[in-house]
Amino acid sequence: MKLPQFTNDAPYSEGQRAWLSGFFAGMHAHMSQNVGLSAQTDSQTITILYGSQTGSAESVANDAGKVAKAYGLTPRVKSMDEIEANALTTIEYLLIITSTYGEGEMPDNAQLLWDSVNAEGMLRLEGLNYSVLALGDTSYDLFCQAGIDWDNKLTALGATRIYDRTDCDVDFEEAAESWITAVIPLMAGGTGTTIAETETREIDKPEYHRKNPFPGTLLVNRLLTDASSSKETRHYEISIAGSGLSYEAGDALCVVPTNCPELVADIIKAIRCKGDEDVTVNGELIRLKAALHSHFEIKTPGKELLEEIATRSGDQELNGIIEAGDKQKLSDYLWGRDILDLLLQFPVCELTAAEFIALLKPLQHRAYSISSSGKKYPEAVHLTVASVRYDSYGRQHKGVCSTFLADLVDAETHVRCFFIPNKVFRVPENDKLPIIMVGPGTGIAPFRAFLQERHYRNASGKNWLFFGDRNAATDYIYRDELESYQESGLLTKLDLAFSRDQEAKIYVQDKMLEQGAELFLWLEQGGYFFVCGDAYRMAKDVDQALHAVIAKHGKLTEQQAIDYVNQLKKAKRYVRDVY
Ligand SMILES: Cc1cc2nc3c(=O)[nH]c(=O)nc-3n(C[C@H](O)[C@H](O)[C@H](O)COP(=O)(O)OP(=O)(O)OC[C@H]3O[C@@H](n4cnc5c(N)ncnc54)[C@H](O)[C@@H]3O)c2cc1C
Ligand SMILES: NC(=O)c1ccc[n+]([C@@H]2O[C@H](COP(=O)([O-])OP(=O)(O)OC[C@H]3O[C@@H](n4cnc5c(N)ncnc54)[C@H](OP(=O)(O)O)[C@@H]3O)[C@@H](O)[C@H]2O)c1
Ligand SMILES: Cc1cc2nc3c(=O)[nH]c(=O)nc-3n(C[C@H](O)[C@H](O)[C@H](O)COP(=O)(O)O)c2cc1C
Repeated sequence: MKLPQFTNDAPYSEGQRAWLSGFFAGMHAHMSQNVGLSAQTDSQTITILYGSQTGSAESVANDAGKVAKAYGLTPRVKSMDEIEANALTTIEYLLIITSTYGEGEMPDNAQLLWDSVNAEGMLRLEGLNYSVLALGDTSYDLFCQAGIDWDNKLTALGATRIYDRTDCDVDFEEAAESWITAVIPLMAGGTGTTIAETETREIDKPEYHRKNPFPGTLLVNRLLTDASSSKETRHYEISIAGSGLSYEAGDALCVVPTNCPELVADIIKAIRCKGDEDVTVNGELIRLKAALHSHFEIKTPGKELLEEIATRSGDQELNGIIEAGDKQKLSDYLWGRDILDLLLQFPVCELTAAEFIALLKPLQHRAYSISSSGKKYPEAVHLTVASVRYDSYGRQHKGVCSTFLADLVDAETHVRCFFIPNKVFRVPENDKLPIIMVGPGTGIAPFRAFLQERHYRNASGKNWLFFGDRNAATDYIYRDELESYQESGLLTKLDLAFSRDQEAKIYVQDKMLEQGAELFLWLEQGGYFFVCGDAYRMAKDVDQALHAVIAKHGKLTEQQAIDYVNQLKKAKRYVRDVY
């Protein structure tokens, strides 16, 4: 039997294709064991709906589609906002693959369908057979909540769960593969469908991806904020020359950091080890010091470590908070405390090297919105990163990745990195359409890239940027570039909100409200509305302001304004890159 056809069509990144090649090899073996199924000419349609903010769930959905095809099924892979709630009644076989965002919320492209399924009082789905794959991160309180919500909702509406939901942590590939290899044959088996004989296609060459990041070279590390600023934001340029990789304005670059050597040393001391103890990591024996340097999160404590410390120390306060299950109290307790703080506070809970690392989470990459256009800079990626540094519990604390870039990368150290494409966060294809960009703080990053892209394309469409930060004198980053874009006419409008230059805070949404009439006009002219930066406060307030502007200047009711915004979302004219 040949391997299934593997087409080279977008949106697969090179990394995803590499992963798929291994995946299909596994599928080939799996399918070989299922040749007893009988052939059938009518192929069963299965619908695969994904909710995805940064592309992982989308890539898994595409993988599932390819495997379904190999099983002779006809897959329809769509983002959730491409279908209406009522369409669910016509579907017999459904796979839902969704990540979770915000605080246990739907990703942006799943929200509309979720809202309309909940608003639709009469919806019954007795004819629907489904399974859910949920992507999430156990460091969030509401782990995989969006997937859980879909699973519960579909059952409540009368649908039949034909395979249990799988909840995946950040290393989702294996769990996703197991789910796909279990659920697709079930759907195919239901109709007696057999596996399609398709052509083999060689996968070209080794590529760079999450499991095999590209060793980039740091070319530039420049302070953007003034030395006297209350914050530190830096501009980085990372060479990707020779990688064969390319990117688009709107994509993100993921950086795989290593931990600060001083923190590693302090932790080794705190657990009363030496560092040369052997520990097993991914089946290999390595030294504890190396393991803590490159393989584990050693700043932010995970639930397992916290519970172990609580049990071993018997500390009343910590045990009380954990037992009460009060997430807010726990989060308040942990605010500003890292693993070392806990180990120093509870020295009684001595752990062996092996016990300690068994309680740690694998070290994760961090995503950064790219602040350059791949057309202008094909061989380099620019990033705009706020360094996380704060004092608490008598020590200076440093964010792992932001200070890895700021302090630890030198001529000898590579920046291991890979791209995550963001297909919807893109400069519009139509160069004549206006774009409105709201990006305070590091949220400016993709808009610097958008402006470079519009300039490169000689696009005639109007560009409007809302930017803000703490103080104009110290935090007006990329000022020269923005002013020169204003002078050249590329930046049609620039509205600035410096929050701490006066008594009362002024934020980007205040500027939006002030300029509401014109903002609405731009939207009516077919404008795109982009938001980047803080997800938890800024993006929510900007969303409210957008609704208010549309209601006021479009002379619409509250509900009509919601519908207007939903139409913008559906048309991918209101898109967000928030974190
Ligand atoms: C799609 C996407 C795009 C992104 N783009 C950008 C970007 O362009 N630029 C950018 O700078 N970031 C961006 N981020 C955020 C970035 O990925 C990292 O989260 C950020 O750099 C912090 O990572 P770190 O490893 O330095 O900190 P970590 O080691 O992860 O520590 C961060 C943690 O420290 C704690 N903390 C932080 N500040 C304080 C404080 N003052 N007091 C107490 N505790 C505190 C909090 O618990 C916080 O979660 C993006 C994220 C995503 C998902
Ligand atoms: N979810 C996250 O973990 C998350 C999200 C965003 C940023 N960060 C991290 O925080 C650090 C700094 O981030 P940053 O430079 O992007 O932004 P930032 O420093 O948090 O804020 C930039 C500007 O936004 C203002 N702001 C605060 N609340 C707002 C609101 N509700 N609406 C509109 N504007 C608001 C701030 O004002 P004031 O401060 O004066 O109120 C400041 O002027 C980085 O390390 C970044 O990665 C983390
Ligand atoms: C701002 C932000 C909020 C998140 N919130 C949650 C959450 O509440 N629960 C969870 O399990 N995962 C959460 N995640 C993790 C994502 O669901 C996870 O990284 C997922 O693999 C992303 O998939 P996607 O690329 O398809 O969007 C969050 C991630 C980010 C960046």
